Amino acid sequence: MSEGSAKKGFGEKPQPTEEKPRKFQAIRGTRDLLPPETALWNRVEQTAHEVFATFGYGEIRPPIFEPTELFARAVGGETDIVSKEMYTFSNPMEGMLSEMALPEVEKISLRPEATASVCRAYIEHGMQQLPQPVKLYYMGPMFRRERPQKGRYRQFYQIGAEVLGGTDAPAIDAEVIEMVMTFFDKLELQGVQLDINSIGHSAPPVDGKNVCRRAYVEALRAALENVKDKLAADSQRRIETNPLRVLDSKLEHEQPIIEKLPRIGDHLCDECKAHYAAVKHELDLRGVKYRENWRLVRGLDYYMRTTFEITAKGLGSQNAVCGGGRYDGLVELLGGPPTKGIGFAIGEDRLILSLQESGKAPAQQGRDVYIAWMGENARATAIRAAKTLRNAGFRVELPPVEQKFGKALGQADKLGAKYALILGDNEVSSGEWTLKTLADGTQQKLTEPQLLEFLRKL
Ligand code: HAM
Repeated sequence: MSEGSAKKGFGEKPQPTEEKPRKFQAIRGTRDLLPPETALWNRVEQTAHEVFATFGYGEIRPPIFEPTELFARAVGGETDIVSKEMYTFSNPMEGMLSEMALPEVEKISLRPEATASVCRAYIEHGMQQLPQPVKLYYMGPMFRRERPQKGRYRQFYQIGAEVLGGTDAPAIDAEVIEMVMTFFDKLELQGVQLDINSIGHSAPPVDGKNVCRRAYVEALRAALENVKDKLAADSQRRIETNPLRVLDSKLEHEQPIIEKLPRIGDHLCDECKAHYAAVKHELDLRGVKYRENWRLVRGLDYYMRTTFEITAKGLGSQNAVCGGGRYDGLVELLGGPPTKGIGFAIGEDRLILSLQESGKAPAQQGRDVYIAWMGENARATAIRAAKTLRNAGFRVELPPVEQKFGKALGQADKLGAKYALILGDNEVSSGEWTLKTLADGTQQKLTEPQLLEFLRKL
């Protein structure tokens, strides 16, 4: 180790380095979100807070990293997400934890999704003691080491919601879906298409009997074995690891083969069939339009019965803007009491992309008033005027140094200001300020109270 890279103790000053300046770029698959786009992100998030509150949801903010084992158990060790895409580190506290009588966590991962965290939190905070069901939502970054492309990033953002505990009444499934659709409606998202499916009853520990999905998977596996040599390598591998994922294939030549495979709908047990029929009826009652898609299987292991996905306009191949479903049994798998669960996550990056593509993005964030001032007297007045206008909620630009009026007006134009407030010696001494409307160049003289009144009326 060279001297320069030796670890420094706290309080020690870093040695000056001889290194040449170096430019850095955001890491592949990550990006900066910048204005004016961030205004749209804020609007989307604000709308989520408002809509979800009307359905009785409260916000949860789980940590960004968790024990790797939590995701391996919840999402499934064989899934792409866990087997290939997680950012995993050795826990730097390893060793010290057992000394502190804390459970040892050897590996930690940046969260690839948040359902596992919400279930962990439900158990950790004894939320089964609260009135059931507990309805929670979250928003924030998730991390998956996927191949970056349009609408697919390694750090991406989700807005999600989970309903835990209580019953598995089909009305809950329908209301969760209704909430996402209401949210998309409020945002005027275009080309929204909801696909639903039931993937049947999952494996124990929920219920050892009637595991119709298991029977279906075996039937599917057998059918796939018969056509194995016509499938691509990826699908061939999945016959063993996760045959349901073959149904997801987008490969052209596999489509006619997949269309002839056994369908889950024909294998559902009576309870799952009745649950699915009731979910559809509940959606009808709510006026939610859907398309049944027997090939919708989802890429996470915890799902059972209701699954759904929503696509939107302008997204190309990565067009799923929301995915979700029921996961009774997950809380139990994570050491909690038997608990029903259902939820969804919206890909916020994709939602924003779709809104932008359909022209729903706000234009550059302009200013209401640009204060063009000249002279020391005017400077004091300008500072006071800026304070008054900002307190009244207007967006104000106050240039820090004096500019000639011509230059100031040009600057106001570039910033998209609506008005220029012109303050020179004359204005200060007369107490009548000049307000120029930049769109048409008209000017008017106003006192300070008149100015406020004029702007407030707009
Ligand atoms: P998911 O389908 O893996 O489900 O992700 C949900 C949504 O997140 C996707 O539909 C997509 O819009 C977005 N998304 C996923 N990966 C990326 C990526 N690399 N770049 C950009 N956007 C992405 C879940 O995560 C489940 N936890 C959803 C859930 C909640 N199910 C029940 N509760």
